[in-house]
Amino acid sequence: MIKTAFYDAKEYDKPSFEHYGNPHDMQFRFLETKLNEDTVDLAKGCDAVCVFVNDTVNAAVIDRLYQHGVKIIALRSAGYNNVDVHAAFGKIHVVHVPAYSPYAVAEHAIALLLTSVRRIHKAYNRTREFNFSLNGLTGFDFHGKTVGVIGTGKIGRIFIDICRGFGMNVIAYDLYPAKDSDIEYVSLDELFGRSDIVSLHCPLTAETRHLIDASAIEKMKKGVVIVNTSRGGLIDAEALLEGIKARKVGAACLDVYEEEADIFFEDRSGHILNDDLLSRLISMPNVIVTSHQAFLTEEALNNIAETTVSNILSYFSNSGICDNELCYRCGHIEQCKKERKQRCF
Ligand code: NAI
Repeated sequence: MIKTAFYDAKEYDKPSFEHYGNPHDMQFRFLETKLNEDTVDLAKGCDAVCVFVNDTVNAAVIDRLYQHGVKIIALRSAGYNNVDVHAAFGKIHVVHVPAYSPYAVAEHAIALLLTSVRRIHKAYNRTREFNFSLNGLTGFDFHGKTVGVIGTGKIGRIFIDICRGFGMNVIAYDLYPAKDSDIEYVSLDELFGRSDIVSLHCPLTAETRHLIDASAIEKMKKGVVIVNTSRGGLIDAEALLEGIKARKVGAACLDVYEEEADIFFEDRSGHILNDDLLSRLISMPNVIVTSHQAFLTEEALNNIAETTVSNILSYFSNSGICDNELCYRCGHIEQCKKERKQRCF
């Protein structure tokens, strides 16, 4: 029996993991708390830990898990910026779910954009109170507008296809532009200068942290709409708020927020929110915030559970090779994944 400590467990996680894990004799210890230095000992006696985006998997946590004999850290997310893969190398194997439904995230980005630009959230509230006035609800056509996409991986490319369906002009920036594609790649500065809408689909790395800061916003068109369904740290939220107050940024659609870890995914409705910046952003009429919900579709939840269970099982199989392992050995994680023929260590 493989025992897995499942941190930050939510009601919607359990059915799919039990469905895919039970036939393989996997036992999940569902824990509501997040993984961090205070909660790491709850994994004692487990072979694996399963973590999500706001669990803290730093060097101290990894060392403690190693002492407890935990063999594998299974991320049930694509992004792995919350795991110190350097520190894990040679001690604990780290696996992730590279793709579970890029459609879910791309479609949510579009849902946010349409809601914001066509003021659907405002209309919904008005008509519920029999207020049928149209004042203040004027939007703009997507058709003919230029959208700048930063990061043209799985999600970015689906987002691009959808935008093209609307008749939008797409320009993009990626550190590693896709070969053999018809995407028009431009420099970041050109993208900022030409885009009516900027949508973020790149990972959070040391390089991309605060990619959207005051100087980036300065280069953007007046009225630009900024969409972030990637990671909160890509945007300097203070600078975004200033851009909104200065009427430079026309609207912001945020599914992620840099300081979301202790706020998102929880019901805080009866509490005072101890984050003035987020409170200010939410109070703006042209800001829409969803709490890291872009991934949340039936299809994605099933794919996440199926791949995570298979990742854990493959570690305990005879070969022990898992295609979805993240290893720091060659210094280029994604490339290392493609070339793996044996266990990373
Ligand atoms: P992917 O790995 O397929 O694509 C990422 C792209 O970003 C690649 O083309 C890569 O070359 C590019 N990139 C890397 N460094 C860059 C840089 N410095 N500047 C510009 N581009 C750079 O990843 P995928 O599946 O498309 O996911 C993108 C991001 O979406 C993830 O990193 C994750 O943070 C986020 N995400 C958010 C979810 C949500 O629920 N809100 C769910 C799933 C993913």
